[in-house]
Amino acid sequence: MDKDIQNQSNQSPSVTNNNTQAVKTVTLPENTSNIPVEYAKNFRPLIKILLVLLCLIIIATAIIVPNILLTSKSAEESNISTNTTTISTTVTATTVICASGYVQTPSGACVNTQIDLNNCGTVGYVCSSNYTSCSSGICSARPAVQLSGAIAVSAWINQTIDDATAQISLPVSITLYNYTTTNVTITSNGVLCMGSCSSSYSNGILPTSPFGGPTLFGFWDDLKIYSGTGQTVYYATSGTTPNRITTFEFYESFYSSSLQYCHFQIIFDENQPNIVKYIYFDVASGGSSATIGVQKSSFGPSITYSVNQANAVAYNTTLIFDTNTNTFSG
Ligand SMILES: *[C@@H]1O[C@H](CO)[C@@H](O)[C@H](O)[C@H]1NC(C)=O
Ligand SMILES: *[C@@H]1O[C@H](CO)[C@@H](O)[C@H](O)[C@H]1NC(C)=O
Ligand SMILES: *[C@@H]1O[C@H](CO)[C@@H](O)[C@H](O)[C@H]1NC(C)=O
Ligand SMILES: *[C@@H]1O[C@H](CO)[C@@H](O)[C@H](O)[C@H]1NC(C)=O
Ligand SMILES: *[C@@H]1O[C@H](CO)[C@@H](O)[C@H](O)[C@H]1NC(C)=O
Ligand SMILES: *[C@@H]1O[C@H](CO)[C@@H](O)[C@H](O)[C@H]1NC(C)=O
Ligand SMILES: *[C@@H]1O[C@H](CO)[C@@H](O)[C@H](O)[C@H]1NC(C)=O
Repeated sequence: MDKDIQNQSNQSPSVTNNNTQAVKTVTLPENTSNIPVEYAKNFRPLIKILLVLLCLIIIATAIIVPNILLTSKSAEESNISTNTTTISTTVTATTVICASGYVQTPSGACVNTQIDLNNCGTVGYVCSSNYTSCSSGICSARPAVQLSGAIAVSAWINQTIDDATAQISLPVSITLYNYTTTNVTITSNGVLCMGSCSSSYSNGILPTSPFGGPTLFGFWDDLKIYSGTGQTVYYATSGTTPNRITTFEFYESFYSSSLQYCHFQIIFDENQPNIVKYIYFDVASGGSSATIGVQKSSFGPSITYSVNQANAVAYNTTLIFDTNTNTFSG
């Protein structure tokens, strides 16, 4: 680069000198007044030749210079267009369709290397059979999504869901506070309603009015489901009558980040009506902005485990709410 500039600046003066010389030569005929006629006559053919040469130089300059400019311009343009193509190709190849924190694999799937057993820590790293999950990018014996045969809430599959509710029709009824139903509503903010529901993210103390019927506050907080991540609410029923288990698995994130998980289950045992169990897995905030408990209606009774309590729950915390005795354990 420096060299080129130097060459150019060395060339420029020499071109100027040549031009000056040419002009000087051209001015010769005008100064012939002082020169004897014979002398001038002898130089006429030379002057003619010089004039022709000058014309040729002018013509050549007129043709060559624009051509040089054109050539370099088109070369530049082709480089620019090449680079533009490269840039747009790159953008197409890395188009971000995965949520923040999720990585696109060569096959186009979005994986979370923080929790993906088959892409743990980095895409393609498969945890050995000794491990059951990937936790914070490290193979772990902790469980991943728990439910086998889990059904994802269909309306929320591959969607970004915030402050929403969804209806679920269950194959087995559930009972709490002596109220039995197969028709439940879940909210994306960690709540399961057996009666009238609310998508409110603003948690408070229990009992609380937006929720009319028996309500399970598994982790009432400002949660979110990020599209393309596998995050959603799952449910499944297992076992045989009269010991069927109905489980709801909330696999979501906190509103602020798709990597701050809120992952827990709400479990009903057909054989133990009026009792419900909550189990927590990864819960980033530990409950510092959440309400955990149950209520019968907007005016009670209710059982509160915690409201805005830091570290209220951690991995493997299990809570059991017994509405027969109005107590909890855990
Ligand atoms: C265009 O790119 C080619 C190859 O990269 C290079 O040799 C040439 O100097 C470039 N031309 C301009 C004007 O940048
Ligand atoms: C094209 O991109 C390359 C690499 O990004 C760069 O070195 C080069 O100067 C660019 N050429 C033009 C003409 O912009
Ligand atoms: C898995 O566990 C077995 C038995 O404990 C052990 O021998 C083996 O080295 C472990 N493999 C890995 C990859 O950790
Ligand atoms: C979700 O989206 C991904 C990527 O577009 C696709 O591979 C997958 O099949 C979708 N899953 C469902 C259940 O629609
Ligand atoms: C359910 O109803 C039975 C019979 O009326 C009563 O004894 C029991 O306390 C009720 N349980 C709850 C949780 O309301
Ligand atoms: C299910 O419950 C919701 C909310 O209470 C209600 O709006 C809906 O009509 C119920 N559906 C059925 C089939 O009972
Ligand atoms: C989780 O809790 C269950 C039952 O409470 C216990 O059997 C299991 O060992 C615990 N797992 C871990 C990793 O703490």
